[in-house]
Amino acid sequence: MKKYKMMTCLLLSVLVLSGCESSSSVTENTTETEEVATDNILVGFSQLGAESDWRSANTQSMKDAFSEENGYGLIFNDGQQKQTNQITAIRTFIQQDVDYIVLAPVTESGWDSVLEEAKDANIPVILVDRLVDVSDKSLYQCWVGSDFELEGIKVCQWLHEYTVANEISDEDLHIVDLQGTIGSTAQLGRSRGLNEVAMEYGWDVVALRDADFTQEKGREVMASLLREYDNINVVYCENDNEAIGAIKAIEAAGLVAGKDIANGEIMVLSFDGINEEALQYAREGKIACIGECNPMHGPRVAAMIEMLNRGEEPEKFNYVDEGIFSALPDVTTITVDGEEYAVTAP
Ligand code: AHR
Repeated sequence: MKKYKMMTCLLLSVLVLSGCESSSSVTENTTETEEVATDNILVGFSQLGAESDWRSANTQSMKDAFSEENGYGLIFNDGQQKQTNQITAIRTFIQQDVDYIVLAPVTESGWDSVLEEAKDANIPVILVDRLVDVSDKSLYQCWVGSDFELEGIKVCQWLHEYTVANEISDEDLHIVDLQGTIGSTAQLGRSRGLNEVAMEYGWDVVALRDADFTQEKGREVMASLLREYDNINVVYCENDNEAIGAIKAIEAAGLVAGKDIANGEIMVLSFDGINEEALQYAREGKIACIGECNPMHGPRVAAMIEMLNRGEEPEKFNYVDEGIFSALPDVTTITVDGEEYAVTAP
């Protein structure tokens, strides 16, 4: 393991100017470094941003796992949802000669060159949460995260079971998809999950729109969809922050977020299950169903690094087990590919 020493509590704020002077063109790319013992394992973690409550919980889990008490030194960089910031952070980690690079990539494409650079520098890269689309899979050691497509299929299967239990016919569903950050593994998987199940049952997917996994975009996009279409009765939000925004838009339009879609209510479906406001909405039935997405990856990534340190090879792809939450009594289990999942209280 490399020996290193860093300065006490160095906090760097790099202002990235995108060409013109206006304040809206300035993004902040923040790196935090802490004082660490010389023989600790040095990890550079490029987090994609802070767009959601899920992301904040994930960041905290990583910071807790890579603490000095646990034998680590952590250089944390928040990429502010911009791949260019993440690439810059990785290049800086290479210059800092870290022992491991951990990357939560914002989108899947465009990583080949920088990961080649890490490989040439002999620094193992571990992916967390989302994946990268590179032709050479040896550019990263391993990945841990969710099966986003399965999450999507589970939530849609719940909707199917709900319609069966309530004698709602497939042609009466008019669904809009508030997608997550376009090109991210979470968006690609969840959008694919909806598409597959919608094709199977012949559901009408009225529109797909980018809502970037944020509450504000969720509200804005849903408000505009409600102005455009008068038949929407299901909104498939690709995370809880979007769902909270969509509910605000539904209520601002004088409509009701709820299960009674035969009588004008709009059913909200969502993912994550970590945001307390969204869980409360689910308890009240404003969100009908949440597909769990587990953010607590810190100890999982640390376990991988410990294996690599012992000269062992972790599995390449590591999926976490996840549940499905609903307060509605109509559906108690769903089955996907022969596997049964219990629907539990939010
Ligand atoms: O990649 C995981 C997704 O990213 C979470 O569902 C979402 O909340 C986050 O922004």
